[in-house]
Order: sequence, then C-alpha cells, then structure tokens
Amino acid sequence: MIENPKRYTITAALPYTNGPIHIGHLAGVYVPSDIYARYLRLQGKDVAFICGSDEHGVAISMKAKKEGITPQEVIDKYDGIIRKSFADFGISFDNYSRTSAKIHHETASAFFRKLYENGDFIEEVTEQLFDEQAQQFLADRFVMGTCPKCGNEEAYGDQCEKCGSTLNATDLINPKSTITGTTPVKKETKHWFLPLNRYEAFLREWILEGHKNDWKPNVYGQVKSWVDGGLEPRAVTRDLDWGIDVPVEGAEGKKLYVWFDAPIGYISSTKEWAAREGKDWEPYWKDADTKLVHFIGKDNIVFHCIIFPAMLKAEGSFILPDNVPANEFLNLEGNKLSTSKNWAVWLHEYLIDFPDKQDVLRYALTANAPETKDNDFTWKDFQARNNNELAAIYGNFINRVVVLTNKYYDGIVPQPNEFSEVDEQTLAELKAYPAVIASSIERYRFREALGELMNVARLGNKYLADEEPWKMVKTDPERVKTQMYVALQIATALGILSEPFLPFTTKKMITILKNDLISWEKVSKSSELVQPGHKIGQAEILFAQIEDAEIQKQIDKLEATKTANKMENKTVEPQKETATFEDFSKLDLRVGTILEAEKMPKANKLLVLKVDTGIDVRTIVSGIAEHFSPEEVVGKRVTVLVNLAPRALRGVESQGMILMTNNAEGKLVFVNPDADGVDNGALIS
Ligand code: 2FM
Ligand code: ZN
Repeated sequence: MIENPKRYTITAALPYTNGPIHIGHLAGVYVPSDIYARYLRLQGKDVAFICGSDEHGVAISMKAKKEGITPQEVIDKYDGIIRKSFADFGISFDNYSRTSAKIHHETASAFFRKLYENGDFIEEVTEQLFDEQAQQFLADRFVMGTCPKCGNEEAYGDQCEKCGSTLNATDLINPKSTITGTTPVKKETKHWFLPLNRYEAFLREWILEGHKNDWKPNVYGQVKSWVDGGLEPRAVTRDLDWGIDVPVEGAEGKKLYVWFDAPIGYISSTKEWAAREGKDWEPYWKDADTKLVHFIGKDNIVFHCIIFPAMLKAEGSFILPDNVPANEFLNLEGNKLSTSKNWAVWLHEYLIDFPDKQDVLRYALTANAPETKDNDFTWKDFQARNNNELAAIYGNFINRVVVLTNKYYDGIVPQPNEFSEVDEQTLAELKAYPAVIASSIERYRFREALGELMNVARLGNKYLADEEPWKMVKTDPERVKTQMYVALQIATALGILSEPFLPFTTKKMITILKNDLISWEKVSKSSELVQPGHKIGQAEILFAQIEDAEIQKQIDKLEATKTANKMENKTVEPQKETATFEDFSKLDLRVGTILEAEKMPKANKLLVLKVDTGIDVRTIVSGIAEHFSPEEVVGKRVTVLVNLAPRALRGVESQGMILMTNNAEGKLVFVNPDADGVDNGALIS
C-alpha cells in the first residue's frame, strides 16, 4: 500500500454501451469511486478520475443484431445515454472517453505490438468453436453452455458469471451458439495467447504476499483460488468483425479480445484528459508515487487482478494497482438485476419520476452498498432512508438551524459568549469527524463513512434537542447566541463533509449557508468554520418526504415487468426436428424414486442424488439445487432417462437424467403433467 502518494489515478469500470445503466452499476462502481475521487479532491490531492464507454466485444454485436442496427449505431446511442446518466448523478469523472476513439485504437494497438515484439505472446493454431449456420467462429457471449467448474448452464464462452471463473469457449459443456441456437463444430484458427502461467510467481508475490492485509477478502480470495488452481495461456485475439484490428501480419480479419483492449481504455482516456488539460499523462501511469485504484464489480476481478496486471507487467513501464476494491452485486426486490428481463431501475427513468432526488439514490445505494456481500435494493428501504434519515435527521437539523438563525438574528451568525462544557465537548467531537470519515473512505468502507457523516447530523440534532434554544430564548438570550453559534459550526461542517456523498445537497447548503466550499482539512483543523457577522440565506427543504403513492408506483412498475416476463415465458418452445421411432426407442425412460440427496460441495446448482431406477440404485447429478432442498426431493417419484451417456460433473459421475419442466411461473418442477401449474406445451428437458 502506497503511503502519501503524489497523485491518484482512479478508474471506474468502463460500462458496455449495449444498454443504459441502472442502480446496480451506480451502487457497485460509480458512486463509491465518485465518493473516493471527490473526497481526495477536497483533501487537495492531485486526482485523475477516469472512465469511458466499452464499445467493443460481442455484447455490442449481439445488441446490434437484436435491434437490427449497426454496432456503430448501438454504441453512439448508449454512449450518449450513459454519459448523460453519469452527468445527471454528479459522477465527477475528469475524463469520460470511448474505446472507439482514435486515441484508444492507437494506444491498444501499440500496446499489443510491444508485447508481440517482446515475444510475450504464444502464436498458435487451435480448434475453436464454429457456427456452421452463421459461418462464424464463436467466442465470449456468442456461445453459452454449462460451466465445467460450477455447473451453471448459462456460462459464457469467456466467463461464468455465476462462479466468476474465466473460461475458454471450448471448455463449455454442451455449448450452443447464441446466434443460431445450434451446436457448434470445431475448426482450426490461429490466435495469440498471453501465457498467464508465466506470471504466476509475480502474481503470488505481488498480490498473495504483498496485499494479503489491505485488499478486500472477497478480491484476495478469488485471486488466490485462481492462482492456486493454475493459470493457463489465454487467447487475446478473436475471429470477429467488430473490434480493434490485430495489428500484426498474418492476423487479417482478426480483432483484439475486448478484455485485452478495454482496460487499456483507462490509459487512453487518461491520455485524452491530459492532452486537453495540458498535462503529462505518463506520471499518472508510470510514476511509482502514483496510487492507482480500480473500482469494479466482482465479475471483473479476474480481468483487473490477473490479466491486466500481467499485461502491464509484460509491457514493463507501467505501475500496478494499489487496490481493486471490487463490490459484490446489488439485487432488486429480491431478484438479480437483469437487463434482458428489464428487472432494473434505470437511471434515466428514475430521474423522470424523481427529478431532483439524485442524492437520495446516492444515499440509499451507499447506505446499502454491496461492499462485503450481495445486497438488496427495495423501494420501501429507499423511502425509509429518505424519510427517516435524510429528512428526519439531516434535513431537520439544517432546517432548525437556518430558521432559528433567521428568526433570532436576521440570518446573521451571532457572537458567542463563553462556551459551556457541553459546547466544548460538542465542538471537539465535531472536529474529530473528518478523520473518522476519512479513515473509512481510505479503507474503501463507504457505508461506514456515510454512517459517520450522519452522526454529524445526529450530533447537531442532539445538541439542539438538549439545549432547547427555543425555550432558552425567553430566559437567557445571551446563552442562545452561543448555542446557535455552535449549531451553525456543525451545520457548516456537515455541508462540507457531505460533498463526496451528497454533492447536490452540498451545493444547496452553499446557497443556504452562503459559505464557499472549503476544504476537508479546514473542518478538522479550524476552530471556527463560520464567523460571527456572516449572513446566511433562507431555509429550503433539502429532502422532501417521499409519499407512499410514489413508492407504490415504482412497485407497480416492477410488478408489471414481472407479469410481462411471465407472459413471455409462456411462449411455448417451438417443436424440435422430427424424431423417428428408432430415435425415440433409443431413449430408455424409467420411473424411479429418489432415495438420497445431498448438495454438491461448492456448487450452488447441483444436487447429488441416489435414485432407485428399478434396474439399480445409481448416482445422478442434477442442476436443481437452487429450486429444491435435498430434504424436499427425497422420496419423490421421478422420470429418469437411464441410458444417457454418463458424464462427470465436478468429479462425480452422473449416470442419467431426471426429467424436469417449468410451470407457468417459471418454477422448475419434476415431470408430472398434474404437477402444479404445468401447461400444455411445457418442454420436458
Ligand atoms: O463488465 C463490464 O461492463 C465491462 N465493460 C467492464 C470493463 S472494465 C475495463 F477493463 F474496461
Ligand atoms: Zn461457473
């Protein structure tokens, strides 16, 4: 961990421009990174807060196919929407670039060429998956199948989002093209591989030994398990038609793997910023006195902690991240956020319903941030955070201070008299907060930091409630001057310390209290933040109550999404190709009984079953663990395909398959036409 760095380079994951952004993105990456950057600027630090649109890769091509437009049209559309959302929510990037920018193509190409010339790649012809119908190689999101590590049936060709493993498309069990739905064949093609295995010793020393104590346990643990599991060469080029050309001879028609070019986007975005600002970009990436911090979601850990550092190490002239404080995921009302299922709160839509409540969302997402585990966003919690915390504690305190100052002193900060012991204690306590909040922020504990910020407002409320200046004014008006002076110091400090978390509120506080934004240091060191004689402005509601009806409207909107998704699920799968009687008679289907069941260790989806098939008692591994507990299935009578070729799942040989289907609500059920809610046409699989 770098102590007292000269400057900071803070990066936030480049969002794919294949859709707008939602609260999950904000909670996981952009609000925490923005808090960190704003806090450092308030500390007077030299900061480059860098981001941009991630515009290559299969995600973009797929969206273009789906919408019937070109990839360029896709990226232009969503780059615009995303940029606006960030600006609207006050995410204070110093630069927001695009990986389609010329400077990025040049930077990424030069990076690749340097590694190529250094001999850092392995060039190899291997068999890759090919979709004969689409006449296209399949990689990344163009192919899905079962993850060989955890059994997730929806793993992508380059990554399983369930267990976080990086994969090669050829590792997938039962791969299917996402373009045509067909099973791909294998075909030879040449690619360039980054031999990650060569970096094992470096990664062990740098992360596993060097960052054991300062990196978050979730990040450290993932890195450790990958390194311990053995690193393998990884292809960094693709047979695709959208992306950056591979800039070497013999690579015509090939593109860089999106995860090769995207992190280089941080560097090109920094270059763009430096050129605009008349600065030199290099110290921000090459000087050992620079603290580089990557803010990302947990699905990006392997790319930022293994692959990109290996690239940087190979290149040789770059610094490595000092920390990668990855967050876990945010769910919405108990379900995983999903772009394709429209299960999200889209930022641009939120602002239509709550046009001036950016800070309320920033607050609710930080207070409930998925820092150490997945967390849930609910509209009720959002309402409670606003009404019971922001309005009742923060807003109430500021309102009382401003109203009373105007009422008693025409808005002029009074000259205090002698401080009481309580005054002294309160002011001393106030002075300690900047260091407490700073310590939490510097350890990337933003929830904790926000809790401490609210304690400043609580301190103010308690002071006023205990002192009761509104009563004292009748008996000892001189004492009230001191009380209001103290309360105004707290209000001013609160306004300044809020800036990283609630920048829109701080702006309002500046117009109310008429104090220019001063520094973090001043709050901790100065004994007087606002002087007697200073005139403040009028009170203004900082946080209006959010009514039940407004929340109900949002809940109804989600209910409508659920219904629409259910209707969509109702669409009956089209009939498959004709099977001859001979085909059918090959299948040996038996009635069986589940005798025993247990969870497969470290696999969320899998149950290991002992099934009496009438022929024998055999082991069948079934991907139903998320739908049924072992206890629930023991004793169930089931239909079993007994002559399915055995296959090993996580080292356990599965000798058959239990037939399942989905009911109208999408719930997995055992095949039994009379089972609850199974409609005609339900596919047995
Ligand atoms: O997961 C994502 O949304 C990626 N687009 C993040 C890229 S981060 C960086 F490396 F560019
Ligand atoms: Zn997996």
